[in-house]
This record gives sequence, C-alpha cells and structure tokens, in this order.
Amino acid sequence: MDRFVIEGGTPLSGEVEVGGSKNASLPALAACLLAEGESSIGNVPFLKDVETLRRILEQLGMKARRDSEGRITCRVEDEEPVTAPYELVKTMRASICVLGPLVAKRGRARVSQPGGCVIGPRPIDLHLKGLVALGAEIRVEKGYIVAEADRLVGTRIYLGGPNGPTVLGTATTMTAATLADGETVIEHAACEPEIEDLAELLVKMGASIEGAGTHRIRVRGVRTLRGVRHDVIPDRIEAATFLMAGAATGGEILARGAVADHLDAVLDGLRAAAVNIIEEPNGLRVRPDGRPGPVDVTTMPYPGFPTDVQAQMTAVLAVADCESTVTDKVFPDRFMHTDELNRMGAKIAREGASIRVHGVEALEGAEVQASDLRASAALVIAGLAARGETTIHRIYHLDRGYEKLEWKLQRLGADIRRESD
Ligand code: EPU
Repeated sequence: MDRFVIEGGTPLSGEVEVGGSKNASLPALAACLLAEGESSIGNVPFLKDVETLRRILEQLGMKARRDSEGRITCRVEDEEPVTAPYELVKTMRASICVLGPLVAKRGRARVSQPGGCVIGPRPIDLHLKGLVALGAEIRVEKGYIVAEADRLVGTRIYLGGPNGPTVLGTATTMTAATLADGETVIEHAACEPEIEDLAELLVKMGASIEGAGTHRIRVRGVRTLRGVRHDVIPDRIEAATFLMAGAATGGEILARGAVADHLDAVLDGLRAAAVNIIEEPNGLRVRPDGRPGPVDVTTMPYPGFPTDVQAQMTAVLAVADCESTVTDKVFPDRFMHTDELNRMGAKIAREGASIRVHGVEALEGAEVQASDLRASAALVIAGLAARGETTIHRIYHLDRGYEKLEWKLQRLGADIRRESD
C-alpha cells in the first residue's frame, strides 16, 4: 500500500492546472449507454474511480477507449448485458449511475446494491423512488437491485430527501426520463454544476431538458439519443483543495481553470476567514495574508458550501487564529478526519452535530491514516502546513479522486513523496 511522506512547513507557491471533474465524468460516461453511435467525453481525469466505471461499462457491452489527452471514446456494441457486478460496485458507490441509463435504454438493470460508506449512511431510496415513479418495477435479489420496465412514462416526481436534494439520484431520474414517454418534472432536483453539465451532454445527444441547474428540471422524452462529443467541467473540489492548501500554508497559488461561479460558497468561506481570493481571467488566486481567521461553516447542497470541501476547510481552520465551528448538513457524521488531525496537534472537538475547531499556531508532523477521499486531502493539507514530517497511510483513497496530486504539489514547491511498502 502506498503512503505519502510530507516534510511540511513551507508555503506553497506557483500555478497549478485544475483537472476535469470526477463527479461530472462518472455520470457523463454512464449516460453514453443511452446513445446510438460513438460518444467522446473529454477532460476526463485519470483516476481509479473513472477506471472502475470504465470496467463496468465494458462489462455492459460498451467499448470505452482512453487516449493520452484524457478523452474517452465509447460506443455500445452489445445491449444484452445488464449487470453491474458486486466486485466492481463494492469499490465505488457512484457505480449506481448506470442504473437509470440501463433501465431507460435496455428495459432492465441488475446493479449490485452499494454497501456501507465511511462518510455516513448512503441510501439509494431516492434513486429507486424516481425510477418507480417513471413506471419501473424494482426488487432486490441476492444483493442486486433489479429494475425492469417495458417502457417508462413521464410524471411529476418530488425528489427531496432528509438532507436535501440528491445529486446522483437526480442524475438517475433525469437520464431515465430522457427516453420515457411524455414529460417528467423533477421537483427539488439537485442543482450542482455536475448535474447541469450532464444535462448539457444529454441535450447535445438530442434530449429535451429544461431547468437543469435549478430545483425543477423538466424532461420531455424522446425516441433516441445519438453519440456526441462533450468536455466535462473543471473539478471544483480539486480547485477548492488547492485554494485551501494555499490558505493553510500561507502560500500564493493560482488554480488555473478554476471556475469562480462554481465556488461561490467556498470563496465566501475563505474570504470570511480573511483569506484573500482574487478572481483572474484564467482561474482563481489565493493570496493569504497571515493566519486565517475563524469562521463558522455549514455545508449544504449546492450552491451551499460543499460537503466535499468540509474536511479540507477544517484543516485550514485547524491553524486559524481563534475558534471556528463546522457543521455538515449533507453527511452529518463526516468527521473521520478530525481524530487524525488531532494526532497532529489540532484541537478539534465534536459538539452535537458540529465540530468546534480551536485553531493552533502550528500543527506537528505525525503518522496518520486516511479514511476516505476528502479526509485524505485534509490530511495532505495539514501535513503541508505542519512542522516536520507527516506520513499519510492508505493514500489509495486519494488516487480515487485526485490526479497526479503529489506531482502537482511538488510543482508548487511541496516536499512530498510517495512510498510503497
Ligand atoms: N440520500 C438519501 N437517499 C438517496 C440518496 C441520497 O437520503 O437515495 C441522502 C444522502 O444520504 C445524503 C444526501 O442525500 O445525506 C446527499 O447525497 P447525494 O445523493 O447527493 O450524494 P451522491 O449523489 O451519492 C455525490 C458525490 C459525492 C458528494 C455528494 C454530495 C458523486 C460521484 N458523488 O454523491 O462526492 O459528497 O454528491 O454533494 O458525484 C466525493 O467526491 O468525495 C463524494 C463523496
């Protein structure tokens, strides 16, 4: 198993290129199951999760080839297979994004039921609710969700859950509705940029979709969709992670390609913590001026502060001047990183549904263990800011969602290396 060894305490500086969005690439590639002919999805990051989905799609009869530029060309060659197997789905919950396209296009899907998740409960009831409302019959058979429908029929669906809208549940329902008879209205839809990007891809394919990016999405079913060329949006979470690394280390970084419009809440949070952020034509620049200040952060569905940046922001606040509070309203127990940050000298305590972060002047390097993707990113940020050496074990989590992370950080002046057992 690989680990990162970081010699911290040096401010990062320079320019870094933000890659394509993982969370836009996954549903976009799955949506290619809907299309006749060849599709080509560009700006796809080279990540473990993308490779997992590519393997699932190949098992589902799609030829999917990646070129050196990060473009995946795909074409369905066999429409018979409908099974997304346990061996692959168990390694990535987002595999569920093949469910909607399969039912809509092939009339049947058999997708292994995703298991537990370290960031908290991850039910899929809303995905199933959307498909049932469209007329699919659903049962669970030996750990597999089996969804069947001779034809889907458009309807009005309320998709809100206890913690707000669901991103991939909206993707499931929206993709399934593209080939349904008649009109579907999704109320309380997720309005994340990744959903807007998916809708843009589907519209290029010939779908009729209005309102993506708002809480009401209207889909008029069409008979067929065609293969197209599409580039996914830049990864707003990767961009935010670099901004946080600058803020925590006191270094000036330009995140090239970062889209300010996708990051309003993050920029607002950083500015509230007295971190200078400058919007430039080709990206976002963080220019810290001393230690960050305290700020209270509450994550919410988009356009709120993203849960996927909560851990990284916590790492910044761990070295802020004074006390901050962090609450996660999307995944209320997503605080696995706090114990590891405390091992580095942070002062973070759970208090009801929130954590209280008492900023310290400096963190100390330590051996820590990554528990999930974004928690790992928080540990990297903490390690870069800390005095001395930090070893982060189990960094395979990072390889799921950050492309060439250590290489990009090295180019910003970080002393970080990967070691293998
Ligand atoms: N929820 C339900 N029922 C459902 C689905 C979700 O109650 O059927 C709840 C969840 O438990 C959670 C909330 O709704 O409390 C939001 O979950 P959502 O469905 O939006 O999450 P997701 O679509 O499965 C995507 C990202 C996650 C990100 C969340 C929230 C992808 C591939 N994954 O997951 O990204 O945290 O939205 O923004 O897009 C990551 O990249 O590290 C990551 C975990």
